[in-house]
Parts: sequence; structure tokens; C-alpha cells
Amino acid sequence: MRDIAIVSGASSGLGREFVRQLDLGAGGPLDEIWAIARNEEALNEVKAQCHTPVKVLALDLTSDDAFKTLASELAAAADGLNVQWLVNCAGFGKFGTFEEVGEANASMVKLNCLAVVEACYQALLYMHAGSRIVNIASAAALLPQPGLSTYGATKRFVLDFSRALDVELGPVGIHVTAVCPKFMHTKFLDKPGDHGALDRVLWIGFEDPRTCVRESLRCALRGKRVAITSPDVRVMNAVCKVVPTDLAMALEAKLGEWYTQRNAR
Ligand SMILES: NC(=O)c1ccc[n+]([C@@H]2O[C@H](COP(=O)([O-])OP(=O)(O)OC[C@H]3O[C@@H](n4cnc5c(N)ncnc54)[C@H](OP(=O)(O)O)[C@@H]3O)[C@@H](O)[C@H]2O)c1
Repeated sequence: MRDIAIVSGASSGLGREFVRQLDLGAGGPLDEIWAIARNEEALNEVKAQCHTPVKVLALDLTSDDAFKTLASELAAAADGLNVQWLVNCAGFGKFGTFEEVGEANASMVKLNCLAVVEACYQALLYMHAGSRIVNIASAAALLPQPGLSTYGATKRFVLDFSRALDVELGPVGIHVTAVCPKFMHTKFLDKPGDHGALDRVLWIGFEDPRTCVRESLRCALRGKRVAITSPDVRVMNAVCKVVPTDLAMALEAKLGEWYTQRNAR
């Protein structure tokens, strides 16, 4: 068997960190890592830093051709292939009203949802008992997010899809883990859209991508369905489970108001 990891969003941020930790053996021995993103130069930099052989796949995962390419790469390598890890990390979010976000609404659905489904569908053909799928959702998945409505909903999709798929695949020994990080200092916030809408949710704070990846891999290896990688988001999740959704949304809006007023002083 040739064990590989496929990591999307590998050119920066969390995806890059997944490649780094998988390369160091955090997910067990690997024969190759397939690194996917659009920026080929950045992917080659990632490759240069790895001890494990890296296959660079410069693909725009919102394009129809991307998954044809992935399918043919997998078919060409099929003999003895085991996709041990699939990490769906590529994603982006734009803040603002639905109208302000405009065309990016559909792109978010394509990248954050459709690409995750396609990648799972294709990789599963080459997975075996013990293989793992890690899908990056977000703390934004825990509650509907006015001012980030489409992004929040795409991440809710990732969360629910992952949980259901894990139940389906459990009997064959494949586990799916949805990860719900809060903010992290990556390129994610480089072009956030409406800064006002972003400022209203910054009260939630930041977590360290290295810790997030370490915890995600640990949860995935243990077969945990959901990885909430920071303690305060775990508390938030518990609150969201008992408080009616409309009330929780109103509380979140009040917190946002308080936080932005405090910072304006
Ligand atoms: N950072 C946060 O605050 C935060 C919080 C919660 C959840 N998340 C989630 O964490 C994941 C990783 O984000 P990050 O924080 O690491 O942000 P990031 O640094 O912006 O990384 C995003 C990655 O996605 C890739 N990507 C974007 N559009 C793509 C496309 N059309 N096709 C293929 N790849 C594409 C980017 O590479 P190219 O530009 O080279 O294509 C990059 O590698 C995302 O799913 C995000 O929603 C982030």
C-alpha cells in the first residue's frame, strides 16, 4: 500500500500547517502528500520544506475541471493507493450583508461546500479502514451569522455533512471529523469584505493554527466526529445547544455591539 494525504488549501494558513504536521508524522507514516491550492509557487515552497515527497496540484477548486484533474491523478496512481488522510481546508469567507457580498456568495458555496463534497466522493474510492477525513468548518457554524450569512451557512453544511458521513462510514472504519476553529491569524482576514461586520464578531478572539491542527489530528485519530479546538468555543457550543437560536443570535448581536463600542472609546 502507498499511503498518501491529500490536503486542500495547502498553500497557506491552516492547510499549510496540516501539511507541516503530517510531514512530521503527526498522522502516521506517509509515502506522499498531495498539496492542492491555486498558488503553484506557494505550493512549491511548501514542498521544498517537506521531508515527505509532495505532489503539487495547482487547482482552482471552484472550477469544473479541478475535480476531473483530481480524478485522473487518483486513477493514474490507483495501484496500491491508500488515501490515509483527506484534509479539506481550502475555504474563504466574506463579511457584509448578502447584497454587499454579491457574487462571492456563490463562490463561497462552491469552494466551502461543493469542493468538500467532491473531494470526499473522489478520495473515498481509495480509502480503507483506518483512513481519516478532516473537514474544516468554523465556530461560525454553531449559530446563524447575520453579516456573514453565506459563510456561516456553508460551514454549518460542512459540520452537518461531516457528522452524517461519519455515521455512515463508521462501520467500515473510516472517520470524518469536522473542525470548528475561531479566528486564526492567517490570510483568511486579508480581504474580509465589510470591516464593520468583521469587527462585530471579533469578540470571539483568536486561536493558534498550530494548536488547532494538532488538536484536529488528535481528534481525527481518535475518531471524534467534531473537534472544537478552543475551550471557550466549546462553552459557546454548549450554550447554543440549550438556548433558543433566536435568543442566542440576539445575545451574539448584543455582544458585538458592546465589543465595538468598547473598542471605539
Ligand atoms: N482563519 C480563520 O480565522 C478561520 C476561522 C475559522 C475557519 N477557518 C477556515 O479555515 C480554512 C483555512 O483557512 P485559513 O485560515 O488557512 O485561510 P487562508 O490562509 O486564506 O487559506 C485558505 C486556503 O484556501 C486556498 N483556496 C482559496 N480559494 C481556493 C480555490 N478557489 N481553489 C483552491 N484553493 C483555494 C488558498 O490557496 P490559494 O489562494 O493558493 O488558492 C489557501 O491555501 C478555511 O476553510 C476557512 O474557512 C478560518
